[in-house]
Amino acid sequence: MPHVLDCEILKNENVAPGHFRIEFEAPEIAREARPAQFCMIQVQPGYYPLLRRPMSFERVFETSVTVLYKVEGEGTRLLSETQPGKTISVQGPLGNGFPLDNDFERHILVAGGIGVAPFPALAEALVNEFGLQPEVIIAARTKDAILCDDYFDELGCHVYVATDDGSLGEKAYAAQMLESLKPGPRDRVYVCGPMIMMSTTSKVAEAHGTSCLVALEAQMACGDGACLGCVVESKKELEGEKMVRVCCDGPVFDTTIIDWPAHNMAYDR
Ligand SMILES: Cc1cc2nc3c(=O)[nH]c(=O)nc-3n(C[C@H](O)[C@H](O)[C@H](O)COP(=O)(O)OP(=O)(O)OC[C@H]3O[C@@H](n4cnc5c(N)ncnc54)[C@H](O)[C@@H]3O)c2cc1C
Ligand code: FES
Repeated sequence: MPHVLDCEILKNENVAPGHFRIEFEAPEIAREARPAQFCMIQVQPGYYPLLRRPMSFERVFETSVTVLYKVEGEGTRLLSETQPGKTISVQGPLGNGFPLDNDFERHILVAGGIGVAPFPALAEALVNEFGLQPEVIIAARTKDAILCDDYFDELGCHVYVATDDGSLGEKAYAAQMLESLKPGPRDRVYVCGPMIMMSTTSKVAEAHGTSCLVALEAQMACGDGACLGCVVESKKELEGEKMVRVCCDGPVFDTTIIDWPAHNMAYDR
């Protein structure tokens, strides 16, 4: 069962234009949280905004966790204004998270924009538990949105940076960067970012016969499987259903399960 805790904010820092890193004390959550699991944060006490906001764990420490977030709307704006020393209600850990598997030759993490958020925890786990050196592609629209590259360097990962406008690293999209790394059938790719980026990047992995896991995002209300607000269409039947729930069947799925054309059509509307 996920915990619901009142957590003291230890830090809440502006790390790049429109991006913040919050650290809060949550020993019970920190003990159990795995890479790409997430929490639901009540951004301020009371009933406004009504719904908690889903956020991945960026890093997990002994008694605290960090969340890296982008200010998108009212909820994240309010969160960004909350000062250290205050308390927020946090529910978690939720979702399945990335499986940790040492059977692959290369582990390639592909991040699009704020989709980098769950990867520090994953890279750390791959380095510390298996002594692996993951390759990390960080792609974003512009250099201001390239995050965590220093931390991946520090961990000893091979880091490849790409921006849409060429302001930092290669002028390329995430999928093109993955193509240039020539993934193979003995490798595993992990992807998180905007839906369209995950769909194109997954296609590259599939074309090379490479195992590919995606950490999906969806708007969420309950976070625990009850409201069906977060469903996406799947190709295969999972638990007898065509739709899968991002909050509790995911957020991590094998890319072959997702019906990308159906999902991108809904996304484009
Ligand atoms: C499992 C999961 C993990 C996530 N982890 C992170 C994270 O680590 N860091 C981070 O910055 N964000 C993360 N998100 C996205 C984050 O939850 C939303 O950006 C946030 O809820 C927006 O709240 P808001 O009140 O600021 O914006 P709102 O006012 O609710 O919405 C503002 C705009 O953002 C869009 N939006 C809202 N929620 C989402 C969503 N879930 N996905 C895509 N677009 C959305 C809305 O359509 C609208 O256009 C995650 C989402 C999920 C489902
Ligand atoms: S958010 Fe309610 S079922 Fe997923």
